[in-house]
Amino acid sequence: MSVPVTAHQAKTKKAVQIRPASAADEAQLCSMYESFEPRPASLGLPPRVRIAEWLERLSPSPNFLAIVDDRLVGHAVLCPDGDTAEVAVFVHQDYRNRGIGHLLLETLVEQARQAGMRRVWGMTELDNIPMLRLAKSLGFAQEKDPCMFAVDLPGAPKR
Ligand SMILES: CC(C)(COP(=O)(O)OP(=O)(O)OC[C@H]1O[C@@H](n2cnc3c(N)ncnc32)[C@H](O)[C@@H]1OP(=O)(O)O)[C@@H](O)C(=O)NCCC(=O)NCCS
Repeated sequence: MSVPVTAHQAKTKKAVQIRPASAADEAQLCSMYESFEPRPASLGLPPRVRIAEWLERLSPSPNFLAIVDDRLVGHAVLCPDGDTAEVAVFVHQDYRNRGIGHLLLETLVEQARQAGMRRVWGMTELDNIPMLRLAKSLGFAQEKDPCMFAVDLPGAPKR
């Protein structure tokens, strides 16, 4: 399963490239997280320390990056579990509120759809308004536990 490299105009009108991450990106990704604020931002992530170990644990899952002017500015990961998958999106504070989180989450949903997933979900704190708004704008609905948001993917086989 693969999502091709895509270039979009974000709200800033700067071209944002969204592409799958590879092992060669690890150093640049660590560097983005070393200056990421706040840390942690959502449910303990990204971690304050041992960033490389955290990224290593995520590496078997589909990881995507957002690049602006050759700078790595965002990271998103889709963690599959059976026919559902958990999403997490992180945009460096210098680049927030420009539509980059939207592009990354949209890419994760498309990746899940291509992989035949039935449902995509995520979790954050109730006061994480940007993340909850972002999820809502892509059709996610809040679950009974209002910290959780989820969307059923059309076309996926019903259980
Ligand atoms: C959550 C996060 C990924 C959003 O990324 P982003 O690139 O800033 O998001 P976008 O620019 O695509 O905007 C997404 C929505 O949030 C809104 N938003 C963005 N920043 C906001 C802010 N500070 N206050 C209120 N709403 C905000 C946008 O208006 C947009 O809503 P809309 O679609 O209704 O217009 C980013 O804020 C971030 O990395 N936060 C820290 C890490 C985190 O909490 N990750 C969640 C892990 S599940």
